[in-house]
Amino acid sequence: MTRKILILTGAGISAESGLGTFRDVDGLWTKYDLDEVATPEGFARNPALVHEFYNARRKNCREAAPNAAHAALARLEREFDGAVRIVTQNVDDLHERAGSKAVWHMHGTLSKAVCAACTHRWDAPAVMVPADPCPACGAAATRPDVVWFGEFPFFMDEIHAALEVCDLFVSIGTSGNVYPAAGFVEAAAGAGAETLELNLEPSFNATAFGERRQGPASEIVPAWVDEVLAEG
Ligand code: APR
Repeated sequence: MTRKILILTGAGISAESGLGTFRDVDGLWTKYDLDEVATPEGFARNPALVHEFYNARRKNCREAAPNAAHAALARLEREFDGAVRIVTQNVDDLHERAGSKAVWHMHGTLSKAVCAACTHRWDAPAVMVPADPCPACGAAATRPDVVWFGEFPFFMDEIHAALEVCDLFVSIGTSGNVYPAAGFVEAAAGAGAETLELNLEPSFNATAFGERRQGPASEIVPAWVDEVLAEG
């Protein structure tokens, strides 16, 4: 019987909340140069541009609401007779606003700012600019608390430990393009877990999953959660 469920989410789960994905037609990486806005080098070259990009993401996030897929995962955590843990690549807070508590943001979060000089973290204001001083040390080295390309994701030790012991690994709304997250399915399967992909279309690494279901997250995630809860 499945008692430990580990769920990886990506931009696709928030798409129907109005937040853009990255690699779909019209995705963010078709409009912005990833090297300029999502790398430490881009931030060093033009911090104002990078802050503008994340200020816009933060505004979109504030204006968005969780959808039925986020709500279903929160319900699963509340009602499932076992452990449910979400690892999200998303920097939005829609899982938390839907009621999920066990969430690791492996790519960081728009809700926080971090000082690159002293690593102090605080709640991000709506608009961040390069001259913002760190409330702890005063350095003008403030950045969004997000993980850029070339940086090490958060919670990796915890995630690897969870992949080793989960009974079921579920991937929702992610293209399977970006490592290390794209490798989680192999790690979970290698440790003996069942694996399921819930995505609009087969992802880049779809064949690594034992089962695949396609459709909009707001439909296929609640349907899957109903099934799991009905199984008891
Ligand atoms: N329901 C389910 N899946 C959807 C939906 C939807 N309504 N809309 C889109 N998708 C799927 C797409 O088919 C695609 O496979 O979501 C996936 C989104 O893929 P990406 O845009 O690549 O987003 P993600 O996988 O989260 O990106 C990973 O890349 O740029 C970085 O740091 C960024 O965390 C991000 C990482």
